[in-house]
Amino acid sequence: MPRRVAIVGLGFVGLPVALSFARRGVIASGLDISQSLVAELTSGHSRLLEQDGDLTITDILGQCLQEGTFTASTDPEQAYRDVEAISISVGLPVSGQGVEFGPLDQAVASLLPHLRKGLTILLRTTVPPGTTARHLVQPIEAAGWKVGHDVFVAYVPERLAEGRAFAETREMPVLVGAPDQASRLRAEELMKVILDAPCHQTDSYEAAELAKLAENGQRDANVALSQEIARLSEALTLSAREVIRLTNTHPRVRLLDPGPGVGGACLPNAYLYMAHAAAEVRVALPTFRAARNTNDQVPELLVDLALSAPRPNGKAKAAVWGLAMKDNSMDDRQSPAMAVVQGLLAKGFSVSACDPLVQGHPFQVSTPAEAAAGASVLYALVRQPGLDPIDPHWLDGLVPGALVVDARGMFDGLKGEISRRGLTLWSL
Ligand SMILES: NC(=O)c1ccc[n+]([C@@H]2O[C@H](COP(=O)([O-])OP(=O)(O)OC[C@H]3O[C@@H](n4cnc5c(N)ncnc54)[C@H](O)[C@@H]3O)[C@@H](O)[C@H]2O)c1
Repeated sequence: MPRRVAIVGLGFVGLPVALSFARRGVIASGLDISQSLVAELTSGHSRLLEQDGDLTITDILGQCLQEGTFTASTDPEQAYRDVEAISISVGLPVSGQGVEFGPLDQAVASLLPHLRKGLTILLRTTVPPGTTARHLVQPIEAAGWKVGHDVFVAYVPERLAEGRAFAETREMPVLVGAPDQASRLRAEELMKVILDAPCHQTDSYEAAELAKLAENGQRDANVALSQEIARLSEALTLSAREVIRLTNTHPRVRLLDPGPGVGGACLPNAYLYMAHAAAEVRVALPTFRAARNTNDQVPELLVDLALSAPRPNGKAKAAVWGLAMKDNSMDDRQSPAMAVVQGLLAKGFSVSACDPLVQGHPFQVSTPAEAAAGASVLYALVRQPGLDPIDPHWLDGLVPGALVVDARGMFDGLKGEISRRGLTLWSL
């Protein structure tokens, strides 16, 4: 077991992984470029909502800081000092220009001067196929080190889900991809420090890279199918949720919840990372692309429903419950709920939104009742603590005849209440 491991990138993935090493007796030395994040972590606070049993991530962070098993720094000299392994978990954003490799290239540049014989390096970031070879192995070998002999490199995609990071770091089987056996064995040995589940090995970086994207792309396409079933169900005046529930009674079928769309960085970026590699080898991915388009269009479809809501005095206010990209999440990056808010604002609605786990937006108010007051259309988009279950009194301030758009089945038990109040319900 190594004595010291560096974790590069201390976000949703990196911090729980670093603390998982620290709790298993390895000194985890965290590196991040964000000074404010490092200051926050060093002061013993994490904004993440992770929990392991009764302990919050802030409790765990506090324990590890006190025991000296976790440190956070922006200084590569400090972070890489005496480490036997390095795990990289920075993210690759996608912009109009395509995939931005800058964060990974900077992370690799930061570690090159600290390479030494015997070091194991894992890439955990979700990436287009070809990235480990081009952006990690090539610079290492250009610096004069032989991978598989002097230093060891494997691609080990991260599979955890936000909110279950500690449990899934222990329990989720992982993939280990590397062309040489020495790197695979060392990567597996390192992973086994924090993992109590199988490591599935493969002899190429690219197979593991593409397998990770196929996992995410499959979920994206699955939700897109559910969206089409939902549109057809609506047109046939059927409940989409009931149709999907019935479908899933088949033991070999599992349609996912359609919801307000697919958000976050992971699933939407999977297609874009695949498309990046596919363009180089001139392969079309029409099915994945169509699924992405279907999911991207859902917020617009939900916004259009508001046009049929009453407009007392010509004014229109919309209420939105839930802003995160998924349930029980504080992450609003690429969130469909945020797209709904932007769409409503663009159509001239004033918007009051409530999400107890997301902060910092000018249209936010503190309670669901406050958001609903005076609104002629109410969107229930994310199941968050404090929003679910719904207290019917939160509806008291809606204007008469208001429209309730429920994309998450949050009003399933309140249909009687909706009709007693003379409200109209549109639900998935
Ligand atoms: N969030 C999830 O649930 C999840 C699940 C599976 C896989 N992933 C993948 O894991 C990767 C990380 O995701 P995340 O959600 O933790 O991202 P994040 O944005 O929360 O964290 C990334 C961190 O890396 C830091 N960083 C960027 N460049 C750096 C550099 N050069 N050196 C040091 N630090 C740097 C950033 O400041 C940030 O704190 C992504 O590829 C993502 O697709 C995420």
